[in-house]
Amino acid sequence: MPQITVSAPSAQKAFQGPVITAANLAKSYGDFTAVNGISFDVPAGESFGLLGPNGAGKSTTMKMIGGVSKRTSGELRIMGLDPDRNGPEVRAHLGVVPQQDNLDEELRVRDNLLAYGRYFGLPKSYLQPKADELLEFAQLTDKAKARVDDLSGGMKRRLTIARSLINDPKILLLDEPTTGLDPQARHILWDRLFRLKEAGVTLILTTHYMDEAEQLCDRLIVVDKGAIMAEGSPAALIREYSSREVVELRFGSERNTTVAAELNGIGERIETLPDRVLIYAENGEHALEAVGARGLHPLTSLVRRSSLEDVFLRLTGRSLVD
Ligand SMILES: Nc1ncnc2c1ncn2[C@@H]1O[C@H](COP(=O)(O)OP(=O)(O)OP(=O)(O)O)[C@@H](O)[C@H]1O
Ligand SMILES: [Mg+2]
Repeated sequence: MPQITVSAPSAQKAFQGPVITAANLAKSYGDFTAVNGISFDVPAGESFGLLGPNGAGKSTTMKMIGGVSKRTSGELRIMGLDPDRNGPEVRAHLGVVPQQDNLDEELRVRDNLLAYGRYFGLPKSYLQPKADELLEFAQLTDKAKARVDDLSGGMKRRLTIARSLINDPKILLLDEPTTGLDPQARHILWDRLFRLKEAGVTLILTTHYMDEAEQLCDRLIVVDKGAIMAEGSPAALIREYSSREVVELRFGSERNTTVAAELNGIGERIETLPDRVLIYAENGEHALEAVGARGLHPLTSLVRRSSLEDVFLRLTGRSLVD
């Protein structure tokens, strides 16, 4: 039997353990607590999401990870480093896509990438080909010489993502990568983010879109008012906090509340919202038949699979998108 030889481990050993650890992480602005003691770990290569409504503390958490906002208390490590003490080293590992695009409007598209790379002290010989590679990746090669002002919202977002990749980061922070974009522009971005994930980049993203969280996140935390309400993969969260299917019934704005009482006992749980009544059930069609059997006739009815929106509603009693 020939001996199998194992080659020596590379000198650049990969970082061991979770690339991000947060323990009881908190941030206050004066008397106001924006992040109220959250704990999570993110292993290398994972796509990890923070899902929550406006004001949940998502951006505040991202800014602490990115080393641009100091935590009030708790522990935080990025690749073993404390962002409050080793800011520049931490930032060298990170790509950052802030909630608001902050591109240099004075500069042309490609020059935005070059200028950003110079902040990192990267040499021109590296930056020139890297900028072209990133323009290609962001599908902006045709726009290399365009003014930033003339780009669509989706293109600006792609340029911001391209810019965040200039230093070949192992971890990418994306604060609401697709908010405000039309569905087509969102799908293009999701495709690009998938590719980064496939290339082994750890993605940390915030969103208040449940479909985005379901599409992109291996695991996520549901945050509300600065606290973690639940944690798990999208599928596990749906299994834990919702039924398999949901029936959405609309009886008209006046009747939704009054009719809900007559649905008692159908399905596992009933939620009454101002515009519709939701019946949570293993089998939506059966539940819908039971509604008809009681002589109730909604104006519209829809059977669908449970989603993270239902998880959020269950956890907070509120709808995620107001
Ligand atoms: N610099 C600041 N000073 C005072 N309060 C702040 C500051 N930054 C954020 N806050 C408050 O902290 C809370 C959390 O804000 P944060 O921006 O983290 O929320 P978010 O989850 O990112 O919300 P959104 O979905 O709207 O982006 C909000 O109530 C916000 O008003
Ligand atoms: Mg935010």
